[in-house]
Amino acid sequence: MEVRVAKSAGFCFGVKKAVEAVYQQLQNNTKHLTIYTYGPLIHNEEVVRDLEAKGVRVLNDEAELEKLTEGIVVLRSHGVEKRIYKKLEEKNLKVVDTTCPFVKKIHQIVEEYSEEGYQIVVIGNDKHPEVEGIKGWCVTVPVIIENEQQAESFVAEKEKKVCIVSQTTFSYTKFKDLVEIISKKGYDIIVRNTICNATEERQTEAKQIASEVDAMIVIGGKSSSNTQKLYEICKKECENTYYIQTLVDLDFDLLKSMGCVGITAGASTPNNIIEEVHTNVRVKF
Ligand code: F3S
Repeated sequence: MEVRVAKSAGFCFGVKKAVEAVYQQLQNNTKHLTIYTYGPLIHNEEVVRDLEAKGVRVLNDEAELEKLTEGIVVLRSHGVEKRIYKKLEEKNLKVVDTTCPFVKKIHQIVEEYSEEGYQIVVIGNDKHPEVEGIKGWCVTVPVIIENEQQAESFVAEKEKKVCIVSQTTFSYTKFKDLVEIISKKGYDIIVRNTICNATEERQTEAKQIASEVDAMIVIGGKSSSNTQKLYEICKKECENTYYIQTLVDLDFDLLKSMGCVGITAGASTPNNIIEEVHTNVRVKF
């Protein structure tokens, strides 16, 4: 059996930076302060469990942050609302900000344009922490659009120009489609494609591989939105696409008669998990 692993599979540079930053804090924590991450560091249960075992605690919401009096707070690559920075400053907590520069860029755009009176539209998943964070940088209430139906029914506030940005991990094709629907409404529109390169590259490569193999394995955490998107993209190209979190989820029987298998993984999947799947598929067939 031929096995093809996508070169772009796994940790993107933003996630890598965030994970390394936390391990570094653990090493340099001479004052033995408790290290907290604001939300689970990445969408990967294995990594989160390992950090927990090393004493890193997760703050689940603002209320939990409110109760803190000391410690180190790590802001993850998804970024946070502007008010969280203020809160951390007021509380005088040590902050390690690992917000991905691509996300920071979106914060800047929405803040600037909403200040200038634009209606902000974020193409993305309203419940995703990255989008929550982006919303928190708009000075006026933004509109979040995730599907065609929402794009069709979008009406801009009176007289307002529209600035459209995207969640960094959104599907590029879907983004283009939704922008096209909104563009037809005749508003004065500025579109900023803020999908990050890492995501675009990963999606393009996954699509290419999925179109050429008999089966495709997509590895990533259950709640990782970019892995879910990858799965959707691959499934369209290759009916036999399987979404797994780790090797344990893989049903080898499904791969038995396949001549060529492709492997890709989301931005928060560590290399060792990809390697483990790769090695086992190669060895078994
Ligand atoms: Fe950043 Fe893109 Fe990764 S936005 S965190 S490099 S998926």
